Parts: sequence; structure tokens; C-alpha cells
Amino acid sequence: MPYAIRALDEFPRCSLSQAPTALHKMPNLTAHFGGAGLYIKRDDCTGLALGGNKARQLEFYIGQAKAERADTVIITGAVQSNYTRMAAAAARMSGMECHIQLEARVANDSAIYHRSGNLLLSRILGATLHTYPHGEDEAGADQALEEIAESLRKSGRRPYVIHLGQNHPPLGALGYVVAAQELCQQMEAGLGFDEIIVASGSGATHAGLLFGLRALGNKTPVRGICVRREAKAQTPRIAARCQQIADLLKMENPVQSGDILLNDEAFAPGYGQMSEAVIEAITLAARTEGILLDPVYTGKTMAGFIARARQATTAQNLLFIHTGGQPALFGYEDDLGPLLSDSPFDN
Ligand SMILES: Cc1ncc(COP(=O)(O)O)c(C=O)c1O
Repeated sequence: MPYAIRALDEFPRCSLSQAPTALHKMPNLTAHFGGAGLYIKRDDCTGLALGGNKARQLEFYIGQAKAERADTVIITGAVQSNYTRMAAAAARMSGMECHIQLEARVANDSAIYHRSGNLLLSRILGATLHTYPHGEDEAGADQALEEIAESLRKSGRRPYVIHLGQNHPPLGALGYVVAAQELCQQMEAGLGFDEIIVASGSGATHAGLLFGLRALGNKTPVRGICVRREAKAQTPRIAARCQQIADLLKMENPVQSGDILLNDEAFAPGYGQMSEAVIEAITLAARTEGILLDPVYTGKTMAGFIARARQATTAQNLLFIHTGGQPALFGYEDDLGPLLSDSPFDN
């Protein structure tokens, strides 16, 4: 492959995603705004138990887990986490068990939120579920994972922990360094972008993509849309993630501070909370392109993308990275339903 970062070859990796994912124009959305060419890369179609960006990240974690001969994967996330659902599927594909810790990260007391969507899928996948009473305590959540791991070890299991906190090497971000190689290959056909727009949550996707592009000499601006915390807190996090990726790969960090672009206008009212901008984004993408977005990540990211599309000129091209997450739509039915047209079955 002409776009190759050789240092990636040093890491154990387990094939979990169907890639390259499609990259195509959204002609109806482009016509709707009448400005920039609007494109999408379909990382929602990576194909691991309904797909999403985390398939690429899990390739490195599951690769490492297998290298360590683990028999159980342990991971933490929000109640409607896509990451944990895909980790459960990846573990199953590799003959492992999965323990999922569900954090009380979103103030949502709906029964459907606690039963449907990703949670239902994780149960179908046979994951063992635990709860954690906080949602903003990464170190505490990781510590609780270690306690689960310890009790599994005592019963003779070989657990592998996928940590959440920033003080652990972001192995998963390497999946998006790989995606940057793929994207450079796709852009070689003559298609260039004035900006790439992507969700910025834990930062593994944003930092990995940005790092990979710069390491390959590609200078396309990458704008993260804040979905987890405001830009003030996310900016140093992305910078730190990029340095950690450089350390993992034993490379110079090619990312300059000016490369880290973040918008947080779509973040309010907070992680996993619906807003009018998110509803507009979800319904517009569905009704122009037949593309389904999720309420937590890609709905907000599309809201940020729409804001950029409104500012862009006809000479420009913008790329939206669709990172998946659609199963959460079902968990958010109570929030979404009342904002849509009436169902003939409502009473
Ligand atoms: C659908 C979806 N998109 C985007 C993200 C954010 O990715 P990252 O955590 O790598 O920033 C997540 C994280 O869970 C996700 O599930």
C-alpha cells in the first residue's frame, strides 16, 4: 500500500471491520444547501454487529487480548454505549466472554433507555452486565474494571481490560491511523476535501485520523465536533492523545497545536442529551439521503457539519465521517418519538 505507516505492523491486530468503507457524495444534501460538495465516509458500515467506528479501534485491543491469551474482555461505557456492544461482538468472534460496565453517564430515567438499543444487543451477545454509579469519573470507572478483572482472575479466568482513562495508551486510536491510510488512498483518485468533520468523544477517532493524515503528509483540516465535553477540555485531550499515539508508534508527533480544530456549538445540553439541532440533523440526513444517524454522536456531528456547510462556498468540498451508533436510536425512542410526526398507533 503506497500510504503505509510501517510502525503499525508491530501491533497485534484482529480483523473485525469490513474496509475500505464507502466514500460518496450526498447529492441531495449538497443540493439542499446549494453550496459546498458534501461527502460522507460510511464507517457506520464497518460491519461488526451493526457497525461503527469502534470496530476499527477494537481490532487493536482484541489483537492484544488474543496475544495475551485472554479469555474475557472487560469494558466500560454509557448505558447506550456502542463501544461496549461492539466489544461484546468482537469478544464472541474471538471465542471470549465479555463483561460490560454500564455507567450512569446520562440523566435519563426512561425504561426504554435502560432496556432497548445497544443494551438489548449486548444481552443478546451474552455479555455480563455490571453498573457503575457515576458517569464523569474515568479513573474510578477504570478502577472498577480492575476490580472485576481481579475477581475473574481469582476464579481462574484471564481477563483483558479495555481502559477508558487518558493515562492508558490509546491502542484503539491506531485503528484511525489505519483509516487515515485508507482515506489517503481514496483521495488519490483526485478528490480533495477542504475539511473533514468527525465526532470527538474519547478522542481516539479524531486524534488517530488527524495523526495518520499528518504522518502521511496530508494537510487536510480535521474538525472534531464535541460530543462528550466542551472544546476547552477536549483540545488538550486531543493533543495528549496525538502525543500518546506518537509514543506508541515510536514516531515524531506530526500534529501541531494549530491542527487541533474543535467546535462545541452542538454539544449542549450535554453528553447523550437531545437538542433541536440534533433532531434537525437526524431528520434532514434521513429525509434527503436516507442516512440514519444516532442521537448521541453522529446526530451532533451532523449538526456541526450542517453549520460548516452553511458557511462553505460552492468551490469547497466537506467530508462527514459517519461513525455509526444507530442502535442507540431505539434506546432514545422516548426522546425522539414526541418530536416526530404522530404515529397512527399513538393514543
Ligand atoms: C457512534 C460513535 N461515534 C463516535 C464516537 C466517538 O469516538 P471516540 O470515542 O473515538 O472519540 C463514539 C464513541 O463511543 C461512537 O459510539
